[in-house]
Amino acid sequence: MARPLIFAANWKMHLDPAAARAFAAAFRPGFVPAAGRSYWFFPTAVSLEATASALAGLDRVAVGAQDVYWEPKGAYTGATSVSLARGAGATLALIGHSERRHVFGETDGETAKKLRAVLDGGLTPLLCVGEQLDDREAGRTDAVVLRQLQAAIGGVAAADLARLVVAYEPVWAIGTGRTATPADAAQVHRALRAALRRAGHSEPRVLYGGSVNPANVGLLLAEPELDGVLVGGASLDPAGWRSMVETRVGPTA
Ligand code: PGA
Repeated sequence: MARPLIFAANWKMHLDPAAARAFAAAFRPGFVPAAGRSYWFFPTAVSLEATASALAGLDRVAVGAQDVYWEPKGAYTGATSVSLARGAGATLALIGHSERRHVFGETDGETAKKLRAVLDGGLTPLLCVGEQLDDREAGRTDAVVLRQLQAAIGGVAAADLARLVVAYEPVWAIGTGRTATPADAAQVHRALRAALRRAGHSEPRVLYGGSVNPANVGLLLAEPELDGVLVGGASLDPAGWRSMVETRVGPTA
């Protein structure tokens, strides 16, 4: 049985509705979703509906918001609530992406509130954690990612936790062309998985992200600790993304 894998595309601040539809038109022809694989797309909020409708009908394809605000509605100019995202076609939400944390200054506490709102609102959260270069060089990688994880999941009931998927994205690897080695990523994935199990998550899934591309995705996914990949820049090209999601990977070791 093929190993279950999640391929998640983070389009960041790219692809307006017309470009998202053009992506889907180039990506879809002949694409056959593979057993056990899931294909997740995170367009910018204005392209959620276009992406969801352009990819409608494909098995195991889902669309999600890149960020949400925790309040359900109100005078929060510029923000997107969980229910607004759901109304536009989202069934998933990225939470705590490093750009939210480090460009927009999102705190662990805010990430926790967003995670709670996503779980309460019935979306599947993809929680991102990752250390900066100085943390890694100082040997603090596990401490940082475990602190981020605990801050986000503290107080979440085990039944809700079961829906959580985590992405390990070292900040120094995002958009830089540098990736963690499969062995380095695996070591962090093991630490995250163990913490998730201790918190009551019976089947934690941990994706890797950070400069994943068509040339390195096979090597990374050969590492059984990786349950999939979260891809930014290399997910914007439909042919490249198609080759990535069709990567052949051996059975579970
Ligand atoms: P990248 O981004 O693939 O461009 O490094 C990954 C991410 O930020 O999710």
